[in-house]
Amino acid sequence: MNSNDIRQSGINPNHWYVVAASHEVKTQPLEVKLWHQNIVLFRDSLGKIQALENRCPHRQVKLSHGKIISDYIECAYHGWQFNSQGECVKVPYLEDNQKLPKNCKIREYSVKELDGFIWLFPGDNPNLIQPLAIPEWDNLNYIATVSVIHYQGHFSFLIENLMDMYHGHLHQDLQAWTDAILDKIEADENRVDAYYQAKSYYKIDKIWSISQLFFPGLRKLHPEPLTVSYIYPHWVSTLGDYFKIYCLFCPISLTETKAYLIHFTSLNAFWRLHKLPIKFRKFVKNLCFGSAQKLLDGLVKQDVLMIEEEQQAYLQNSQQKGYEFNPTIASIQRLINNQVEK
Ligand code: FES
Ligand SMILES: [Fe+2]
Repeated sequence: MNSNDIRQSGINPNHWYVVAASHEVKTQPLEVKLWHQNIVLFRDSLGKIQALENRCPHRQVKLSHGKIISDYIECAYHGWQFNSQGECVKVPYLEDNQKLPKNCKIREYSVKELDGFIWLFPGDNPNLIQPLAIPEWDNLNYIATVSVIHYQGHFSFLIENLMDMYHGHLHQDLQAWTDAILDKIEADENRVDAYYQAKSYYKIDKIWSISQLFFPGLRKLHPEPLTVSYIYPHWVSTLGDYFKIYCLFCPISLTETKAYLIHFTSLNAFWRLHKLPIKFRKFVKNLCFGSAQKLLDGLVKQDVLMIEEEQQAYLQNSQQKGYEFNPTIASIQRLINNQVEK
């Protein structure tokens, strides 16, 4: 194996990764995977998220088959219970003269629930770095749509796809913009910013703007800056003043990746709306949640087809070199390699 082979590169564990959406963790334990690690998420009696290695130290079965008893997670097999530090606190059939097994501990993970998602830190020092902020999530002027991307392929294929706006060709009618041209790239050891000029189909500044979604004839192409940023390990994009998109990564293995794509439409231009009671604005925000679902899911489907084919082609012939005209790709690959070495 070539050690510089980007499709063989690992992750830098000293970052916050997104392993689930908040609403996915209810009253039952939830199994998630992050870079070869099987993890169980659950809510304690206060609703706070806890994360443990998904393995009962008794017989190595998954704790995610069990259930939550107050602050503890109970294994389905023999009912042993574990606290949020991963320590065994109860063996139900222990006799009075028997003690709980010593050092019977599984790994606990640092985990946070923020902006609608569960963020997990698989590395050593969670206090040195903060999860990526998503201020639009609770902002009443932004309407969110979330699409899950789950594909069989290395995470580098997805970030390359997201940073190379020349692939707008693939999406044709589904894309909000066209004719992207790369202006410049800025890169440091933690991020790559690529600045494109594009033509956008949408202006969300009139109450009837929404009809542009349904009647293509109403759309007028106009220039807008299109910026995409790889803020390791996640991705953020803005198109003019009206759209902001995040892609939150959860690399699972060398050949499997999950990510959450969050699309925000801005209502900032509707100043009259801002004067209405907060309660009503919350109602509107919730009512419109998911309004771009069909569009977003359609984009994801097209991208996944391409990315999985890239992975397949790589597995068949890892020596095959492609041709590349977009210098953003080289910047991303450099960043991934540098992060792994850290
Ligand atoms: S395997 Fe978990 S309690 Fe026995
Ligand atoms: Fe795409």
